[in-house]
Parts: sequence; C-alpha cells; structure tokens
Amino acid sequence: MLPTLALFSVLTALTATVSAVPCVQFDSSWNLYAFGGSEDVKLGANTTWAQPQVSPLSTSGRPPWTGTNSQCILSQTNNALYVVGGDSSDLSKIYVYNFASDSWSTQTTSGAPSDLGNSRSSSVLDHDTNVIYTLTTSSGLYQLDMSSVTNSAQSSALAWEAVENSSFSVDGYSVTATQAANHIFYFGVPNTAAGSANVFVVHYAYFQPDAQAFSGSSQFPDTAGQAISIPTSSDSVPYSMVFVPNDFSNTYIATHWTDLGDYSKTDDAPFATNLINSTQTLAAPTSQDKTASYAASPYDLVQIDSTGAIYYYANPVNGDYTVSSGGSWQKLSYAVTGGSTGSSNSTTSAAPSGSASASGSAASGSAGASRTASGSTSASASGSAASASGSSSPSSGAPRGAARGDLLGLAIGVVALGASMLL
Ligand SMILES: *[C@@H]1O[C@H](CO)[C@@H](O)[C@H](O)[C@H]1NC(C)=O
Ligand SMILES: *[C@@H]1O[C@H](CO)[C@@H](O)[C@H](O)[C@H]1NC(C)=O
Ligand SMILES: *[C@@H]1O[C@H](CO)[C@@H](O)[C@H](O)[C@H]1NC(C)=O
Ligand SMILES: *[C@@H]1O[C@H](CO)[C@@H](O)[C@H](O)[C@H]1NC(C)=O
Repeated sequence: MLPTLALFSVLTALTATVSAVPCVQFDSSWNLYAFGGSEDVKLGANTTWAQPQVSPLSTSGRPPWTGTNSQCILSQTNNALYVVGGDSSDLSKIYVYNFASDSWSTQTTSGAPSDLGNSRSSSVLDHDTNVIYTLTTSSGLYQLDMSSVTNSAQSSALAWEAVENSSFSVDGYSVTATQAANHIFYFGVPNTAAGSANVFVVHYAYFQPDAQAFSGSSQFPDTAGQAISIPTSSDSVPYSMVFVPNDFSNTYIATHWTDLGDYSKTDDAPFATNLINSTQTLAAPTSQDKTASYAASPYDLVQIDSTGAIYYYANPVNGDYTVSSGGSWQKLSYAVTGGSTGSSNSTTSAAPSGSASASGSAASGSAGASRTASGSTSASASGSAASASGSSSPSSGAPRGAARGDLLGLAIGVVALGASMLL
C-alpha cells in the first residue's frame, strides 16, 4: 500500500497527463466545428460567428475524446476530418468524420510505433497524397497511407510504415510540425538556430541534412509549440504555415514554396519571390495556453484552448501572401464544455493588445450563449480544475495549481481512467 501522501502525488501526476483536450476544424466549405465537449458541434460560416447557430453532430461512433494530444486534421480534398489520438486507450485508431453525411467511422491500424502521440502537432497529413506522417521521438518517422480511406474507414486495418529516422536529434522534442508545398517543417527542434526549421521532403521521402533558415525581420524562437497549415481556396498544397511557439512571442506565419521539378526555380511561385522561406508575424493569441489547438480556413485562424474557449483571427493572410497587421484575436460567444475528463485550466489571458477590434461581435458576455453540458455527468468538466500543463511548464506566467480541493476532485475523477491506462 502506498502511503496517502505518495498516493496523492501519483494522482497529481496523473492529472497532469490525463486531461482530454477539445479541438476545432473546418470543413472544405469553411464552416467551423468544435469537437470534444459533451457534444461535437457545427458552428457554421464566419458570417454567423457573432451569434453562432450551434448544431450538434452525430454521436454515433464519435471518438471518446480521452486523448491528451489529440489532433483534428482536415482532409480538404475529401471533406473529411481525421482524428489522431482521440482515444487514449488506443492511440493507433484514426476516427474519420464525413462532414457531408455527418457520420463517424473508425479506422483500425496495425504496426503503429509504441510512442505515437508525442504532441498535438506531431502528425501531418500530406495534402497531395493523403498520407499521415508522424514523427516520434524514439521510433523515427512513420507514415500511414489514408488514400484509400477518403471519408470513411476501410474494414481492414491500415499498416503504419517506418519511413526513416530524422536527420536531427529529437531528444526532448515536443514535435511541432506542419506542411507547405510538399515539405514538412519541424519547428523548435532542440539546438536548431532561431528562425530555422528542419525539413522532411515528402516527394523524395528524405530529411534534409540541414535546417532551412527563414528570412524576415522577426525570427521565430527555437521553442516547441503548435503548428498548422493554412489551406488554399483552390485546394492546392498549402503555402502558409502558422507557428505559435510556447513563448507566445508572436503568431508566426512562415511561407514556403518550391517548384517540384526544379528546386532552383523561383519565378513561378504564387507570390513574390522574397516571401519564399520567409517569416511574418501576427499578434500572439489572447489565450496563452500551450495545449490549445488551432485550425485555419483560407480566411480565418481559430484557436480553442483547453478550457474550451474559442478565439479567431480574421483574414490573417492577404491574397498575395503578405500578412495584414492590425488584426486581433476575437472571442467567440460559444465555448465547449463537458469533455470526457474535464478541461484543464492552464491558460493565461494576455491583455488585449491595443489594436482596434474590428467587429462588435467579440463576446465579452460569452456566458449567455455558451451551452453547458446538458445536465450530464461531467463533475470535473467545468473549467476550474487543476492546472495540467502549468505543473510541467517552467516559462509561462500561468497560474500555478488551482485549489487543492479541485485538484483532488479531479484526481479522483481520473483514477479509473488512469488505472486502466496503467494496467
Ligand atoms: C532508427 O534508429 C533506430 C536506432 O538506431 C533503429 O533501430 C531503427 O531501425 C531506425 N529506423 C529506421 C526506419 O531506419
Ligand atoms: C526554400 O527552402 C527549401 C527547403 O529547405 C529549399 O529547398 C529551397 O531552395 C529554398 N528556396 C529559397 C528560394 O530559399
Ligand atoms: C469570412 O469568409 C469569407 C469567405 O467565405 C471571407 O471573404 C471573409 O473575409 C471572411 N470574413 C471574416 C471576418 O473572417
Ligand atoms: C482558471 O483559473 C483562474 C485562477 O484560479 C480563474 O481566475 C479563472 O476563472 C479560471 N478560468 C476558467 C476558464 O475556469
């Protein structure tokens, strides 16, 4: 028997790792969705966000949303969502949501590395081939070919395949990857120069020996964080990447393009050649939550933090791939509540930066519109729980531990889940 105190620390450690996280994503017509609360919901087009018309999605076959590093990835060509790591009891399952038919299916897989799920930005879906690339920190890069899946699962298991080990050391790396123009960029790799990212070239299936430096007046730090691509309205491979480092110094937009046939060619780039391999900046997110996740349409960036609060930044990138300065993050008048093990409260809110806010839609009165977990079980669901990432995060000004009573309550709430994961 463990002495009570020791048991308490074990439980505390569990609360730091067992805390489900919500996510947001768009369909290919750029309606916004939020997943992982007591229900998954469609929030609609950006014209409705001031007063979202909330429609619950099918619950049949939805993920249990117990993963701590779940990722919600849009397959734009297939108008489908792939949820990686949505079930903490089996991280190798991929949940597939067909936006058009509002239906879920589960893709089983075989041969997954044992260390899947390193971070919320460790898997990247290659736009052109529909192959998922996942970098792990002890098994190298793995791929899973989803081209036969499109928008619903196959009955037979899909096999993960080892690709190769990275050309850079991944010791202690919280993988922060996304794609532009058939290259996967790894931000914040330990011991890489600030302003440079390591590269896997999809079409040649190899890791470049050296990191690529990005030009621009503001270099991104060599810090892990979250990264996503901004899809294009023409459904081409994306060219803009969003990197939010854990120091929240800025929201970085890294732009990349290469001619597939001839890497030295730059004259047919879809933007000014000085934007190739460049960095531009936007305001840092208001909610400085390292476990937040992000999604983008060609017109908006959206963040959902671990408390379920949703923020968006309108028109971050212009048609010529320059970024607009002077925009700001706005809060949606809807928040996700009632996730499976409760949301953690590990966020800090930066004071809104002095910029003029564009619309009257920013919701300070968000309580009125947000739906609560409709009378459901979720005792631990509502925001005020223990600080999950706070305890493992040296740098942010996040409020440290919440009230011990809350912590213990949450700890007890996850005992069953924690035990089932350990056994
Ligand atoms: C990656 O490196 C490990 C350890 O050196 C080795 O066992 C493994 O085979 C390598 N994987 C690939 C795909 O080359
Ligand atoms: C941009 O980065 C890629 C990847 O490292 C590289 O192959 C290409 O030559 C670079 N292009 C320019 C114009 O710097
Ligand atoms: C909303 O999306 C449309 C395209 O559907 C875009 O033209 C517009 O700029 C976006 N507006 C905002 C405020 O994000
Ligand atoms: C998070 O915790 C802080 C400090 O305990 C509290 O002021 C804040 O209201 C909490 N936020 C949420 C969304 O629960």
